[in-house]
Amino acid sequence: MKIAVSVLNSKNRIEDVLRLNDSRIDYLHIDLMDGSFVSNKQFSIYEIDKLSDVSRKKIDLHMMVENPIEYIEKINLRNIEYITFHYEVKQDINKIIEEIKALGYKVGMAIKPDTLIEEVIPYLDKIDLLLIMSVEPGYGGQEFIVNTYNKLKELTKLRVKGNYTFEIEVDGGINDTNYKNLEELKVDIVVMGTYLTNSDNIEEKLKQLK
Ligand code: DX5
Ligand code: ZN
Repeated sequence: MKIAVSVLNSKNRIEDVLRLNDSRIDYLHIDLMDGSFVSNKQFSIYEIDKLSDVSRKKIDLHMMVENPIEYIEKINLRNIEYITFHYEVKQDINKIIEEIKALGYKVGMAIKPDTLIEEVIPYLDKIDLLLIMSVEPGYGGQEFIVNTYNKLKELTKLRVKGNYTFEIEVDGGINDTNYKNLEELKVDIVVMGTYLTNSDNIEEKLKQLK
């Protein structure tokens, strides 16, 4: 299972990104919030630019914004791997998918805890990644919603049955305990924030996950 680290709740984001450069993690997860799709407002384009400059890890950009296309056009980072937008935005989903593809990034689509898998079936053959939120988007440090396991069981069955190639990512409230359950459920990428960035020794915490 790959690990993407969210520096949303870091005490010093740049310092943590530099530390993570030498660790075994796979992606730097950046949570972009516009104060409208979610009440929190985080990471200016300028800050994303700065973090991307110092990161040697590829970026997994999670956009919690009402108008993803507006932001996508402002961002021009060579080391982005995934651009993930939310299915719940009141926008033309196919247009967003095409825009991300045209720019050469992998397409991620995120769903909030109350959004059902059935709703997103029409898009599953068009995306590279489905991000399952295991907390309400907006803030780090929340508790993992246990119903996520049921959703994941349904999703992995569907993935096999439909021969889909998208990866599954889970985001929110992940710690050493639920990490193991998610690995068993065939999740491809986990996002870890507070559990790691609250520690003085991220490297040691990562070792404990094995
Ligand atoms: C929440 C964000 C998450 C969050 C993860 O809206 O999408 O990426 O920062 O942090 P933890 O692991 O603290 O829940
Ligand atoms: Zn996130």
